[in-house]
This record gives sequence, structure tokens and C-alpha cells, in this order.
Amino acid sequence: MDNRRIYNIIVAAGSGSRFGADRPKQYCILDNRPVLMRTIDNMRQALPGSNILLVISSGHKGLWDELCDAYKFSSPITIEGGNTRWQSVKNAINTIPDNCADIITVHDGARPLISRELMASVIGGIGKQSGAIPAIQVTDSLRMVSADGSSIPVDRTLFRAVQTPQAFRADHLINAYSLPYQETFTDDASVMKAAGYDDINIVDGDSCNIKITLPHDIEIASIYLRER
Ligand code: C5P
Repeated sequence: MDNRRIYNIIVAAGSGSRFGADRPKQYCILDNRPVLMRTIDNMRQALPGSNILLVISSGHKGLWDELCDAYKFSSPITIEGGNTRWQSVKNAINTIPDNCADIITVHDGARPLISRELMASVIGGIGKQSGAIPAIQVTDSLRMVSADGSSIPVDRTLFRAVQTPQAFRADHLINAYSLPYQETFTDDASVMKAAGYDDINIVDGDSCNIKITLPHDIEIASIYLRER
């Protein structure tokens, strides 16, 4: 596989409203460096020579430029984000030159603990399928809740929690992103499913590959970092 034909989209244009800090979580400091710089560095190390497209919101471009200056960090190409994650991914896909990509991966900027092994596993997991996504078993008990507030227990062995990076055949992902937006598009595999691409492999995710969502997730990520 020629890494130059792999395009990695890192989406980091969310406002991170659940995080509650003065800036979105991807710009907060995780062991002396902004979360997003760790994500990008780990992606660069996992797939040397591949292309990275960084999606950030126009409102935070100034902050990102300041951080890059302060940390002497060389940013990948930046692309303006949209109002939804789907729109942010689509904006990045639209910048990929025709016939230059064999594989497109999409990764949440808020998951800084992406490992070489996981990246290799999703890329290798595509095989002859349309894509591969990492997922982990659910450890909590699960209930399905109805609109009236009633709920029933469900068998948790039937479910998986899906992570990023997700990797896809470029032509199939580009095709899937030509569909109109649906609210159920919380990740790229759900966009693929809506376009009829059911052949997505699930590979083992990594329980350390957490998405920084709440303030204490920074502490948890910092512990995982030290264990590496
Ligand atoms: O909101 P959630 O945590 O699911 O977002 C997942 C990823 O998508 C985050 O890295 C976030 O920055 C990104 N995102 C985006 N554009 C949006 C919303 C979310 O790039 N409009």
C-alpha cells in the first residue's frame, strides 16, 4: 500500500459543548500539549507519508494558528468545518483531488490516543470490503428507552461501541457522501450504510482510544499516555 494514496480526515470542528471549558476540548492541554497536536502526531507516526486534512471551525482558526506558533507545530492543511460532523467530513472530502485517493480514513480530533496498531488494523481490515471500523464490547448493562420513558433491558452481547479511525475505499465513501444529510449520521459507517454499503468489517477497537468528552477525560487520557 502506497501511503501517499491514503487521505486521513481529522475532524475537529465541534464546539465541545459537553466539555464546559472556555475552549473546545481538542484545544485543551493534555500533558503539556493541546489534544489536537497529539492526535495529529500520532496519526503522522502511524502512517508516514500519508495525507492529513484537518477540519477546524473558522471561529477557532486564529486560536489554532496561535497554538501552532506557541508550540512550533507544523499544521496539516486546514479546512473549514460545517455545522454537523457530516458537513465537516464532506467539506474535507470535497478538497481531495480526483483519482488521488485509494483509501480515506476519518478520525475524531478528540481521540488523541490513536495507536499505530489500531490504524494498521483498520486499514488492513478493509480487505475486499468497502471499509473497516474499530469497535469494542459494551461493559455496562443496556436498556432500550421508549418515548414515554419506559424501558426494557437488551442483550449487551449484541452491541458494540464504535470508535474512530474508520477506513473506507475512497470511491465508496465519496459516493456515500453525495447523499443528503440524515440526523442518524453520527459516524461515517452510518453514512456508508445509508448508501447501501453493508460490507463493513468490524475490527477490535482499543479501550484506551477514548474520545475526550467530559473534563475528567483529560485526566484519564493522561493516565493512559503514561502507561504507553
Ligand atoms: O460531537 P462529537 O464528540 O461526536 O464529535 C466527534 C468529532 O467530530 C469531534 O472531533 C468534533 O470536533 C468533530 N465535529 C466536527 N464538526 C462538527 C461537529 C463535530 O468536526 N460540526
